[in-house]
Amino acid sequence: MITRRQLLLSSAAIAIAPRAAFASQPFKLTAEAVKRTLDEGFEPTSLWGFNGSTPGPTLRTTQGQTLDLQFQNQVDQASAVHWHGIRIDNAMDGVPGLTQSLVETGQSFDYQFVTQDAGTYWYHSHNRSLEQVARGLYGALIVQEETPPDVDHDIVVFIDDWLLNSDYSLVSEFSNMHDLAHGGQMGNFAKAVFQPETSDIKKNQRVRLRLINVATDRIFDINVDGIDGKIVAYDGMPLNTPASLQTLVIAPAQRVDIIGDVNADILISAPTRNGPYKLGQMSISGAIESKRDSEIGALPANPYQAPDLDKAIELTLNMEGGAMNPKMMRGGDIWAFNGVSGMQETPFKSFKRGQTAVINLVNDTMFAHAIHLHGHHFQPLSDGTLGSLRDTLLVEPGENQKIACVFGNPGKWLLHCHMLGHQKTGMKTWVEVA
Ligand code: C2O
Ligand code: CU
Repeated sequence: MITRRQLLLSSAAIAIAPRAAFASQPFKLTAEAVKRTLDEGFEPTSLWGFNGSTPGPTLRTTQGQTLDLQFQNQVDQASAVHWHGIRIDNAMDGVPGLTQSLVETGQSFDYQFVTQDAGTYWYHSHNRSLEQVARGLYGALIVQEETPPDVDHDIVVFIDDWLLNSDYSLVSEFSNMHDLAHGGQMGNFAKAVFQPETSDIKKNQRVRLRLINVATDRIFDINVDGIDGKIVAYDGMPLNTPASLQTLVIAPAQRVDIIGDVNADILISAPTRNGPYKLGQMSISGAIESKRDSEIGALPANPYQAPDLDKAIELTLNMEGGAMNPKMMRGGDIWAFNGVSGMQETPFKSFKRGQTAVINLVNDTMFAHAIHLHGHHFQPLSDGTLGSLRDTLLVEPGENQKIACVFGNPGKWLLHCHMLGHQKTGMKTWVEVA
């Protein structure tokens, strides 16, 4: 029996070639066909990327600044770019049919928004997402704190999997109903890609790692070895108190920021029954004399409004469908929220701007789901206690989780499972904030 977290194929991993970072605005982000050799000994794989590479360039800006960017579509499908996790002007959210029109091949779209919150975010296609993200249309969006923490290296770690044929081409079928009714479309080759790639890491230096699970459907268990560190943020949002570094469970689209002092080669691996599966490694070259004395403290909080639990309205979102479920839907509609599969004319709920809601997420299926709300972060609520802010929450099979959210951002926002195979086959809805 292959579990959802089991990893396959070769364990050797090399980092993909470095790429140019943007130095000035307006950024130009061109979606286009690219070729990548995914691992040592592999033949090049035809993929899609931005500005010649997948992952696309890491976009770095500073909190409070305006990001000004022209998206050009040069792939042979219509597309649009979504800025995952960012509190954004609704018209810039990149959801065709809800917030903008499709950007056809050869066309462009100008995205412009202010980055209110510092943190680790990412961008990805939001049209035919299962296919377009699997093909490689994604990259990192880093919003630096005005006074960033003191580190020697700030590195994005993309964790991805690819479903490859034996000739290393990408399996180009994205509609395997069996997979989509189960855990989604899993790759058969997984690895971590570092951006930037650096050979200049020294023992005792302090690093910030920004892990992003960009896989379409796979939940990764991740161990980070070689640093003595703390978890400082989830989904871009700082933890009030940094948490100790243990095995991480990272669902699709989730991010984890770690700051730590290097004590050996940095190894990113996934625990498996047969021992650790190596996803990526950054080797150290030499050492500096001693590590910093300073504690790894909390990052500055982002300007988020606390939920008003006394006045909160209560809602329930039932996850339904999928394989091994007597109520499984047929045809393209495998998954549903509250009995409705796919987008509907009317929103799941209309909120008054600033309203707090407590939503009971009920997973009435045999599979895990990664529930993502656009344009907002929310807090898990258990026994009256609020957890740390998230934009994507993993809800295990049969599990119930409450979240509290202040619907403070006007517009139309998607609410969907970020297992993109589940999203494609019905697990999506939307809310409105007026
Ligand atoms: Cu990462 Cu609807 O998005
Ligand atoms: Cu799901």
